[in-house]
Amino acid sequence: MLEKKARIAVLVSGGGTNLQAILDAEQSGVIHSGEVVLVISNNRNAYALTRAEKAGIKGLYISKKELKTQEAFEAAVESALEEEKIDLIVLAGFMSILSKDFTSRYPKRIINVHPALIPSFCGKGYYGLRVHEAALKKGVKVTGATVHFVNEIPDGGEIIAQKAVEVMDGDTPEILQKRVMEQAEWVILPQSVEKIAALSVNGEL
Ligand code: GAR
Repeated sequence: MLEKKARIAVLVSGGGTNLQAILDAEQSGVIHSGEVVLVISNNRNAYALTRAEKAGIKGLYISKKELKTQEAFEAAVESALEEEKIDLIVLAGFMSILSKDFTSRYPKRIINVHPALIPSFCGKGYYGLRVHEAALKKGVKVTGATVHFVNEIPDGGEIIAQKAVEVMDGDTPEILQKRVMEQAEWVILPQSVEKIAALSVNGEL
C-alpha cells in the first residue's frame, strides 16, 4: 500500500544547506513520512531556489519589497501554501519574522531550525552568523542547534530537538557556523521533519 505523506513547504532566504539536508534525507529514506513539494524564498538570489530547481521541486520567490506590507507578503505565502495543500511548513534559514496572525493560523504546523541552544542566543536580532558571533563573544564552550515549533514569539515555541556542539579555541564565527551545521543542524532538522511529518499523517499532532 502506498504510504500517505505529509506535503511539506520549505521557506528559505539564502544558501539552503538545510533545505539540501532535508532533500538528501528524503533520498536516503531518513524522511519517508513527508515530501517537499514547495520551496518559497523571500530572496530572489537565494541559492536555495537553484537547489529546488535541481531537485525538480516548485520554487517561488515572493518579494516583500514589491508587496510592500508584511500582511500582503504573508497573504501571498498563504495562498501558495493553500494551492499546494501544504501540511507542514519548515523554516530553514528563513530570515524574516512571521506575524502572530500568520503563525496562529498554523499551530504546530511550522517548525524552525535555530543555530544555538535555545534559550541562549535567540530571539529578535539573532540570526545567521550573528548567533555565532554572540556565542564566541560570550565565550561559551558549548553551543549547538535547536529545532522548535514556531509561534508568535521569535524562537519561543516548543522545543522538538537539540544537539550540542563544542566550541574550539581559535574558532571564527564562520568556522563555528560550519561545525554547528554539520554536526547539529543537518542532523536534527531532517530527523525532526520526519518525526513531525509522521505525527501529522497519523493525525497525532
Ligand atoms: C542556518 O545556520 C540556520 O540555522 C540559520 O541560518 C542558516 C541558514 O543556512 N537560521 C537562522 O538564524 C534563523 N533564525 P542555510 O540557508 O544554508 O540553511
